[in-house]
Order: sequence, then structure tokens, then C-alpha cells
Amino acid sequence: MYDHLTLISGRAHPKLANEIGDYLGLSLGAIEIWNFPDGEIGVKINQNIRGCDVFLIQPTCPPVNENLMELLIMIDACKRASAARITAVIPYFGYARQDRKDSGRVPITAKLTANLIVNAGADRVLTVDLHAAQIQGFFDVPVDHLYSAPVLDDYFKKLNLPADKLVIVSPDEGSIKRTLQHLQHLGGELAIVDKRRFSATQTKQAHLIGGPIDGRIALLFDDMITTGGSITGAVNVVQQFGAAEIYVCATHPVLCGKAVENLGAAPIKEIVVSNSIPLSPQQMLPNIRVVSLAPLLGEAIKRIHKNESVSYLFD
Ligand code: R5P
Repeated sequence: MYDHLTLISGRAHPKLANEIGDYLGLSLGAIEIWNFPDGEIGVKINQNIRGCDVFLIQPTCPPVNENLMELLIMIDACKRASAARITAVIPYFGYARQDRKDSGRVPITAKLTANLIVNAGADRVLTVDLHAAQIQGFFDVPVDHLYSAPVLDDYFKKLNLPADKLVIVSPDEGSIKRTLQHLQHLGGELAIVDKRRFSATQTKQAHLIGGPIDGRIALLFDDMITTGGSITGAVNVVQQFGAAEIYVCATHPVLCGKAVENLGAAPIKEIVVSNSIPLSPQQMLPNIRVVSLAPLLGEAIKRIHKNESVSYLFD
């Protein structure tokens, strides 16, 4: 059905890559990836990809540097194997939070990472819910930036939660725009938690703007949960304001540090995340629900390959 379309997966998330393949009715391209005794990564593509439209699927989730380096090496292998076009499919783009100089003498690592990917030979990038949409401009090649919101909202719509009881909560001021989009689709009232960040692992939440919260079903949306400090801090505030039930939702479940412990101890009915990042059995808390991005990514890949509109997916 697809002329010369080739899907290749790195080792970061073969399950998602296989699901995308199932959506497209394609099996994954043959690739061998291994580590040399000193830790260096070796890659060999075991099929002809000369003239092919190659999509390399690799979220740069933890282990971030290993997965990023593996992506760069795969891009180089495809370029040297004469692929016609290489698209880096990065469902979760690591280093995205280092996107500005917020103090003196610090790097902009999101830009450095984008440079590495482009300089390795990627012709395009396909990604989902970048921490800040303007990171698209860090890549000097076309970026298709997908939004997981329709997929996540569909999950909540199926729960049939009463709109007149809902309050959609932004866990910090950076997530307000995203929260408004969910509000538009799910209904309810808007609330915003005032979050102050002191370090990579320390945040403080106290005030809440908007609402009402008392007796309501609160839905908190964030782009990612890393240590869980931001979201559980917001959950505690919402609970203090009298929420009857609390749902938490994030696109990228990075879940590092004490995230599993923090989330497990918080009064959360369900934690809804996408499969942009694979979860280990230890991370699969009983109240975690995972929704798949494979149809969205598969459809976008099909449209890119056929030169059809990708923004049509969100119109
Ligand atoms: C912050 O701007 C992000 O949207 C997330 O709220 C934050 O990165 C999550 O990190 P953590 O889970 O470590 O608080």
C-alpha cells in the first residue's frame, strides 16, 4: 500500500513501534542494535533502504543519553544507506525543559539536541506535545508537532463524567493553554494552581485561582510527570479545596526519582497517560491507565508519506 515506506524502531520503545506498524499494516524494518563491551552502540540495518522514506521511531526517554545517541547513530546509518528521506519520530523529546537561558552560564540543551538530530541527517521530525511548542523552531527542518489532547479527551469522554460537576485544573501557569483546550472539549470550570519551582526536584504549591473545587470532580492536565512533585503538589491543593474525586492526566509518563512512590501515596482516582514512553511493571501503579498514541502517530506517518495535511488531524 505504501511505496518505499519503511518503519524502523530503536530499542527505546519497540512496543509502540509495533503498534504503529499494526496501524499501517507494515512490519518493522530489519535492524540489529547492540552495545560493544565498552558501552558504545552498534547499529546495522539488515535490509535495503536505498531510496526509501524511512521513519525512525525512538522516544528520547530515560536512559535519555543512550536513547538519544542510539537515534543519532540510526539516522547516520540510514543516511549512509542512501535512504531518500529520514524522519525522526520522537514521541517524547527529552531535554525539552532546557529550552532557555534562565540564569547565567547555562546551556540551551534542547537547541543543542535539535542541532545534533538535524546534523546527523534527519530530514524531518515528528513529535508529540513538546514541553514548549516553540521548540519546533530549534530544528532547521520541518517539524510535525502532534497533540495528544484528542486521544486523552476521548478517554475522559468515555467515562461519562457529568460536565456540570467537572473542574479542569492547570497544575501551573505554564499549562494554562493546554488546560483551556481540554476545557473546551470536556466542559466544566477552570482552576489554576500557583506553583513555584525551587529546583529540579522541589516545588511548592499553595494558592488556587478559579474553581469552584468543593464537591467537584477535578481533572488535572500536565505535559509530563517526571518526579511527580508538581502534580502531587497540585493534587494536595485541590484536595484541600474539597474536590470529591481527582483524576490526573499527562502525555509523557517519565516517572523517575520518587514519582511512583509520590503518585502511589496521593489521593488520585486514576492517572491517565499516553504510551509515548514505555512503563516498567514497577511503574504500572494499579490506577494508571495508558492510552495509545499509535493510531495518531500512524495516521501522521501515512499523511507525511503521502504529502497530505497533518494539521487536518486536529481541525
Ligand atoms: C513543568 O513546567 C512541566 O510542565 C511539568 O509540570 C514538570 O516538568 C513535571 O516535573 P515533576 O514531575 O518533576 O514535578
